[in-house]
Amino acid sequence: MLTIALPKGRIAEDTMALMAKIFDSEFKFESRKLILKTQQFTFLNVRNQDVPTYVERGAADLGVVGLDVITEKSLDIVDLLDLELGKCKVAIGIKEGDKLDWSRPDIKVATKMVNITKSYFAKKAVGVDVIKLYGSIELAPLVGLADAIVDIVETGETMRENGLVVAEDIMQSSAHLIANKNSFFEKKSEILELYRLLKEAIESGE
Ligand code: PRP
Repeated sequence: MLTIALPKGRIAEDTMALMAKIFDSEFKFESRKLILKTQQFTFLNVRNQDVPTYVERGAADLGVVGLDVITEKSLDIVDLLDLELGKCKVAIGIKEGDKLDWSRPDIKVATKMVNITKSYFAKKAVGVDVIKLYGSIELAPLVGLADAIVDIVETGETMRENGLVVAEDIMQSSAHLIANKNSFFEKKSEILELYRLLKEAIESGE
């Protein structure tokens, strides 16, 4: 029996739809229930940001989480498979008409993703003043809190509606299947079997 932590919302639905095709049965959380038990799996319905905690601490054997989160948090897990769901990118955004002046010693950048931001600017040997925010990041340059933002861009709609444009792409991201390290050791054959089935389904364009 494998326990799988899924992030509430569309990624959970898409992951369950993929598994439904593979196992030819319907997987769906009942209204407000947070656990779904089937013959082979226990699914946990958790907040996006909490998936790594359930997996790292072994409350779930497997989880589905964005590559951006894996990168930002340097998670102590096994990164098994790109599920090719929830595709988006992490990008630098600036006000339309602005130019990012890389020669400045103290570019102010607002972001949820402090580590990704620091390491990107460090690679360019540019000093950065990172301002940690928890949401509505696009607001920061509009009111002079920051010169730029580093944020997730999916459709690009949020930036567009707030008069921002992408200055540079930092990384592509999508939902990955991750495993707890002990589970991967103790339940290796079960996990690899699911890995194989998911990979096959993804490659056949499911
Ligand atoms: C993310 C991100 C952007 C938006 C991008 O926020 O921080 O604001 O989605 O999507 P788009 O390019 O399709 O407009 P999310 O909705 O996850 O909310 P959050 O700010 O609470 O993280």
